[in-house]
Amino acid sequence: MKPRVGFIGLGVIGAPMAGRLLEQGFPLLVWNRTPSRADSLVARGAHRAATPRELASAADLVITMVTDGAALREVVERADGLAAGLAAGKVHCDMSTIDPATARNLTDFYAARNAHFLHAPVLGNWRAAQEGRLLIFAGGADRAVEQCQPVFDALGKKVWRWSRPEQATCVKLACNLLLGGLMELLAESLLLASRAGIPPRTMLEIFAESALHSPMVQSKGETIAHRKFTPPSFYLRHMRKDLDLALAAAQELGAHTPATRAVRDAFAAAEHQRAELDYSAVFEWLEEQSPAPAS
Ligand SMILES: NC(=O)c1ccc[n+]([C@@H]2O[C@H](COP(=O)([O-])OP(=O)(O)OC[C@H]3O[C@@H](n4cnc5c(N)ncnc54)[C@H](OP(=O)(O)O)[C@@H]3O)[C@@H](O)[C@H]2O)c1
Repeated sequence: MKPRVGFIGLGVIGAPMAGRLLEQGFPLLVWNRTPSRADSLVARGAHRAATPRELASAADLVITMVTDGAALREVVERADGLAAGLAAGKVHCDMSTIDPATARNLTDFYAARNAHFLHAPVLGNWRAAQEGRLLIFAGGADRAVEQCQPVFDALGKKVWRWSRPEQATCVKLACNLLLGGLMELLAESLLLASRAGIPPRTMLEIFAESALHSPMVQSKGETIAHRKFTPPSFYLRHMRKDLDLALAAAQELGAHTPATRAVRDAFAAAEHQRAELDYSAVFEWLEEQSPAPAS
């Protein structure tokens, strides 16, 4: 029998993940800070919990998909939070992109209550979530991973495992560092070409025929070509957050990452007016910074 899953955080990627679990036959409880975001899942058969505590007491295991470590700690530690409802032996698996320290601290926090914390961040967008094709990086005790395995099988196409949660966290940050860097350089490349009168479409055609071909370059290149930065598949403010997290982790681990700093600064500047757009909107910011030379 499938475990009863409690799901918290029904944003751009959390909602399709929860929807996928429902579609795959998991009994589902949901809670979201803004309650209306749970309405469509409730209409499809999910049960609405009044508080995270109620959700944790009724579920066999809890999944969270919230903005960052601060949001996660709030959901856990508030008076009617997860910690107040999660019984000994149960697992809280966080799949958000958070900082390594929060992953470490929550592991100790739950262990002191004889419960388990697993950090299992994901790579992939809302469509991959909807279709069960996410890549899952699971960090934590084997027993906790085993309890979450049915959920991972439904959500993911492949799972990698590490014993320490912060290793999984760092794998995710290393992936997003590359994603942010690729996005920034793709945007700069398309901008340079467009200044020479070459449209993005032509550049994408060239990339597609070359060793530069990649699904990310093609799909985000199309987003830029159409200037379709909303609705976002990944908020620009989240990419800046992840680059900050990657820089902090690199500093802690003694890794020299100068280009990540430059990319982070570009996203931070772009965020002033474009926080709620897709992260590919960094292209618009670059354009704004590039007045055409006087002819
Ligand atoms: N989008 C992607 O493609 C993608 C891919 C991989 C990983 N991620 C990661 O997944 C996480 C969620 O991303 P998303 O794109 O779904 O973001 P999002 O649309 O901004 O959703 C964030 C969710 O967190 C909730 N939240 C924020 N602060 C909270 C708080 N203090 N207490 C309770 N709930 C809080 C929000 O509730 P409200 O509805 O009330 O605001 C919302 O449900 C992030 O860590 C992101 O980096 C995203």
